[in-house]
Amino acid sequence: MSSILITNIKELIQTEETPKLKVVGKQMAELPTIRDAWLFIDAGIIAGFGSMSSFDRNLLVEQTSDLLEIDASGKMVFPSFVDSHTHLVYPASREIEYIDKIKGLSYEEIAARGGGILNTARRLKDISEEALLESSLARLKEITRYGTGAVEIKSGYGLDLEGELKMLRVIRKLKEISPLTIKATFLGAHSIPLEYRGKQDYYVDLVINEMLPQVAEEQLADYVDVFCDTGFFTVRDTERILEAGLKYGLQGKIHANELDYSGGIQAGVKYGALSVDHLEYTGQKEIEALLHSETMPTVLPGAAFFLGMVYAPVRKMIDAGLPVALASDFNPGSAPSGNMQLILSMASILYKMLPEEAINATTINSAYAMGLSSELGSIAIGKKANVYITTYIPSYEFMPYAFGSNKVETVILNGEIQSV
Ligand code: NIG
Ligand code: FE
Repeated sequence: MSSILITNIKELIQTEETPKLKVVGKQMAELPTIRDAWLFIDAGIIAGFGSMSSFDRNLLVEQTSDLLEIDASGKMVFPSFVDSHTHLVYPASREIEYIDKIKGLSYEEIAARGGGILNTARRLKDISEEALLESSLARLKEITRYGTGAVEIKSGYGLDLEGELKMLRVIRKLKEISPLTIKATFLGAHSIPLEYRGKQDYYVDLVINEMLPQVAEEQLADYVDVFCDTGFFTVRDTERILEAGLKYGLQGKIHANELDYSGGIQAGVKYGALSVDHLEYTGQKEIEALLHSETMPTVLPGAAFFLGMVYAPVRKMIDAGLPVALASDFNPGSAPSGNMQLILSMASILYKMLPEEAINATTINSAYAMGLSSELGSIAIGKKANVYITTYIPSYEFMPYAFGSNKVETVILNGEIQSV
């Protein structure tokens, strides 16, 4: 494995001398950088960085024989995005439902008549594991080009034992063959299959007694998720599943308060969830609960934008002293894009987040929401070398500002340049 030395970096973003696991409240507006910098990567790890003015080539070059040198004049280097919430393993897109939405049907109305998640679940039965893998791999390549270096992927379109295992096995295969760092989340409780309508408890029993043990037995998941919201799973269902997950060592990362004040945030906090995600309906009580927890509040701007929903009160949350993470929610129904650069722009435009806050939310805080913030999410010695070099950009504020264009030019994952 060769080493990489990047010199003359216009600005090296999000450098840390003393790494933090997350940034909270006012801290989110701080973004340490080094102008006119160098970065040294060795054996897949960030091995050194600093200002060009104090750069001593001899010290580095002695250490390594096979050195690739990159002159990044006029370009910036960022830690890769960490996308802590996606459903990017799916069998087919759903653009026809999207037209129904344009014509006025709500997400819940589409779901109630068997569309939405259940539509994708039907398609999942017909697709082979190979085809599912191939289409998912193409999506991973796409997000890599846009600067993502780590991604969480959920099951949840199987909704029976066989289907959920199929999805999780595909995710396991992706972990093996993709250079991205991947975490898998078991989301058996994503929607209630039609045959269980009116007897939802039985479906939750199935998730707990049949799916979870098998998922744990095969070590297919890192986390467990529940869609805790109106028309989907109740607080009681959620608590039962979170409790069962913990017995197998699976911490929660749950969908909460997207459609209403569902009680999902409090349920997540009560069971020590690593993150609670969506959070459109977050009031003072929810903020209080989160303030007394280690749970990462995670907002998904793509879904709120695509579905035309109310926006989570991110400013209120940060001003109250909470950390916030941002993720793409990449899925065929509510967020058909995994472009984290677009998420940065939405964060600033729709949620009034400062560029510094948005960058922290899509790197170190989202890494926390995947249990990875000690190894990813910033430029710090010893962290995994997942970084990208930008095109010529005038400032880091340009990243959220110039929405729609790809500002990532070179992607380095595990210390290796990717052909993207
Ligand atoms: O996070 N909210 C629930 N689940 C997904 C949507 C998945 C789908 O519609 O296929 C979400 O938005
Ligand atoms: Fe989701």
